[in-house]
Amino acid sequence: MERVLEPAELMTDDEQAHAYAGADFRDSEKNFIHLFGERFPDYDGSDLVLDLGCGPVNITLPFAQRYPKAILHGVDGSAAMLKYGYLALEQADKSFTSRITLIQGFIPGVALPSQQYDVIISKSLLHHLTDPQVLWMTIKQHSKVGTRVLIVDLFRPSSPLMAKQIIETYAGKEPDVLKTDFYNSLLAAFSPTEVEGQLVAAGLPHFTVQTISDRHIAVAGVIN
Ligand SMILES: C[S@@+](CC[C@H](N)C(=O)[O-])C[C@H]1O[C@@H](n2cnc3c(N)ncnc32)[C@H](O)[C@@H]1O
Repeated sequence: MERVLEPAELMTDDEQAHAYAGADFRDSEKNFIHLFGERFPDYDGSDLVLDLGCGPVNITLPFAQRYPKAILHGVDGSAAMLKYGYLALEQADKSFTSRITLIQGFIPGVALPSQQYDVIISKSLLHHLTDPQVLWMTIKQHSKVGTRVLIVDLFRPSSPLMAKQIIETYAGKEPDVLKTDFYNSLLAAFSPTEVEGQLVAAGLPHFTVQTISDRHIAVAGVIN
């Protein structure tokens, strides 16, 4: 199945942002943090972390909870999504939230508080990008030798029918706006082979691409 771009890169619609922020992604968030620990078992968390496309801080906050010494910058282009990020931070323990700064800005081009990060994480941003190199180039621009990178995203199913089956399995009871969003996301996602090609083109051929579920891939590596 050919890739179909998302209707828009940014999730600026409030109804869409509200539905996304209210959805239960706890399993995939937990999996992300677990996977990071598996990939980087020596990581002690005492440094600067960048979360690209942080949305309602779904992985920013659990990362801060898991690594109590980390300082995190989350960036997203959508004020509607960041509104739910700020709400989540308000409701969470200040010992976590005092270490998180949110920045509204478009990738590429956003002015970040730091030029280089020790860790770069991102979940479910890649498929939103018209040009996937935007993600890999942003990572290269804001990293240094030794920066640990973990990206998790959907991968594109083989047919629209398969996409619909995935939605029924995992979001059957969710509001229609979320199901439509999920469907668009699956159709806009890349195949593992396409992501491998992107990494070679970006000069990151040593990064690994692993299929971690029936709909997710993980890309991990250390900048050399
Ligand atoms: C599906 S959400 C993922 C949010 C969060 N990372 C998570 O896993 O729940 C994708 C987010 O990326 C943001 N986004 C998409 N394209 C972007 C761009 N070019 N620059 C900045 N943010 C972008 C969207 O606004 C949205 O909040």
